[in-house]
Amino acid sequence: MSPIPNNSSSKARRSRRGFGTVDTVLMVGSATLILWGGLYVGRYSGRFDADEFDEQPHARAPKVVAGSADPNAAVLKLGQMAYGKSCIACHQADGNGNPGLNIPPLAGSDWIAESSPNRIIRIVLHGLGGPVKVKDTVFTGGAMNPWLKTPDNTAGLTPEEIAAALSFARNSWGNKAAIVTPDQVTAVLKETEKRSEPWTADELVKVPLTGGASASAAITPEQLKAALKALPPAALEEVLKDVKK
Ligand code: HEC
Repeated sequence: MSPIPNNSSSKARRSRRGFGTVDTVLMVGSATLILWGGLYVGRYSGRFDADEFDEQPHARAPKVVAGSADPNAAVLKLGQMAYGKSCIACHQADGNGNPGLNIPPLAGSDWIAESSPNRIIRIVLHGLGGPVKVKDTVFTGGAMNPWLKTPDNTAGLTPEEIAAALSFARNSWGNKAAIVTPDQVTAVLKETEKRSEPWTADELVKVPLTGGASASAAITPEQLKAALKALPPAALEEVLKDVKK
């Protein structure tokens, strides 16, 4: 028996419109298949490179091509490695953290995407403790350890790796922010030379975001006081007069 119904009413419809139900089903069906195939190839083929097929559309650092015109690609690749070594256990491959263990997300975090990396560099250098608000949720009870490589912390990261890990986090999972440079990390390192204990969020929000890390060489009130005290009395008088003007 033919699987295709061939009764008189479909025949009648066919003769009236030039198209039968079966033809329409076949046509829409094959058009859908072709469209799906095209979308699938377009989405997952990785520009047809044989080693690029990846059915999981997750964040990947761009491929590093020798002599690539985009130097950021190499930074992001290094960053992906540093993130995989030092951050992924807590903040997870998808950047969503682990709220059940009080570990905040980096994906969509306002901290990670701030215009200047002044605060997040401090977090990675020295760690973070106390309550911190991320994406409208206050995380308490968790603590992040310091990640600067020192003789006491040989498993830590170099300034280059810290810059790269933060650059990767700032450009993954929908985050979009400027690359962090090793110079910015060493500038913050200099500003915080005496620091050993982890930061609190309350302290960090007072760190200025204007300019790059080096521009944040904005001095603290303590430094200002010390500098003023060091002035000869006549010069101090001059400065105060100037400020009051
Ligand atoms: C041992 C687990 C752990 C590791 C490893 C870790 N973090 Fe964290 N991180 C935390 C916790 C917990 C907090 C929140 C601390 C608090 O509650 O004060 C945090 C907070 C942060 C924050 C600020 C809040 C936010 O979600 O934006 C940033 C930025 C951050 N971490 C980046 C990193 C980077 C980059 C690395 C890798 C170099 C890293 N962390 C490694 C546990 C970790």
